[in-house]
Amino acid sequence: MTRRTADVLAAARKHDLAAAVATKHVIVCTGAGGVGKTTAAAALALAAARQGRRTIVLTIDPARRLAQSLGLRSLDNTPRPVKAVPGLDAMMLDMKRTFDEVIDRHASDRRRAEAIKSNRFYRQLSNSLAGTQEYMAMEKLYDLHAGGAYDCIVIDTPPTRNALDFLDAPKRLTDFLEGRFLKMFLSPGLAAGRTVGRVAAFGTGIFMKAASRITGAGVLGDLAEFFQSMEGMYEGFKNRAQSVYRLLQSHDSAFVVVASPETPALREARYFLQRLAQDGMPTAGLVVNRTTPPAPEALAHLTRPRAEAAARRLADGGPEHRAAAALLELHADRVDVHRREQRAVIAALHNVNPRALIEVPLMGSDVHDIAGLDAIEAYLVASEPSRSAP
Ligand SMILES: Nc1ncnc2c1ncn2[C@@H]1O[C@H](COP(=O)(O)OP(=O)(O)OP(=O)(O)O)[C@@H](O)[C@H]1O
Ligand SMILES: [Mg+2]
Repeated sequence: MTRRTADVLAAARKHDLAAAVATKHVIVCTGAGGVGKTTAAAALALAAARQGRRTIVLTIDPARRLAQSLGLRSLDNTPRPVKAVPGLDAMMLDMKRTFDEVIDRHASDRRRAEAIKSNRFYRQLSNSLAGTQEYMAMEKLYDLHAGGAYDCIVIDTPPTRNALDFLDAPKRLTDFLEGRFLKMFLSPGLAAGRTVGRVAAFGTGIFMKAASRITGAGVLGDLAEFFQSMEGMYEGFKNRAQSVYRLLQSHDSAFVVVASPETPALREARYFLQRLAQDGMPTAGLVVNRTTPPAPEALAHLTRPRAEAAARRLADGGPEHRAAAALLELHADRVDVHRREQRAVIAALHNVNPRALIEVPLMGSDVHDIAGLDAIEAYLVASEPSRSAP
């Protein structure tokens, strides 16, 4: 480990997310799939509400039991009070409904809004496209921010293939909606058979996915009608995406990057931290979730060779000795796992500064209720005086 990395790590470990929770207007939890984004978002929102801030957590596809303990029963885009925590609302993002709301609000008239919503191509687009969910999370963030009802808005992000999709998807979607690809697609003289090849050549995953789901006659008609009826709305889409982008760049916002202690998730966290720095977006910290904690102080001297040697000495004894030997072996394994995880964290943070580095241990069970969130919160927002705000 270079000296610089060691210094950055030591400094980052002294900080936690207390300052972000106490002061930020928007907190975005992001990271690779399955690492604990939804859990971290809920725990941070809990912490903000407990400080007396009016808080909402916008969750995306939470596990059913967690949703239940937050008082969420269905995807309905409506903020619901979390009964056990005064000042905290929770909401599940319904991507399709958000898209419909955007169309209703911004289409030039009702008839046009209905035409768009009943269009087959729109229905595919709003239901299933990669990137739509990220875009809609941004639209919803824009709404909640503009509504002014909350001091703190905590956003969970969807399990994208790549964490960076969250930042890139709105641009891809607005480019797409602007019809750049469609103009090529509909250019006169293109035979239907060649069209697919041409579209594929653009490499637009978004486009292909939607287009390929609509088969048979009328595809081009649907597409043309869709883009015609969207005429006049592109600017709005773009402007809102840009204004959310600016909000995310402001000091009122903070990104919390979540990773598991394995190399692939940490590598992705590293890309994300680099990209946030590049885009001028403020980072509050890196959460490494489900870590193996270090050995307790009293066992700190027991390295693997020492533990193994002691285990060998005990192995021939009675049942209690053999149990002690087995525990020593467990300890030796745990020391190795902890060390491996630490190496992965160090590698990921080479020349990258996450401001705060918080390690949350693997709990004995899933985090699906307020007590479980409290336990996570205690790590994210530690109360020890040695930990201060970045
Ligand atoms: N520190 C922890 N200890 C034990 N279990 C945890 C911990 N953190 C999260 N979990 C559990 O891991 C599972 C995944 O967490 P979570 O849903 O927050 O991940 P996610 O990043 O939002 O996933 P996705 O990318 O699928 O949305 C959940 O069942 C959660 O309860
Ligand atoms: Mg999630």
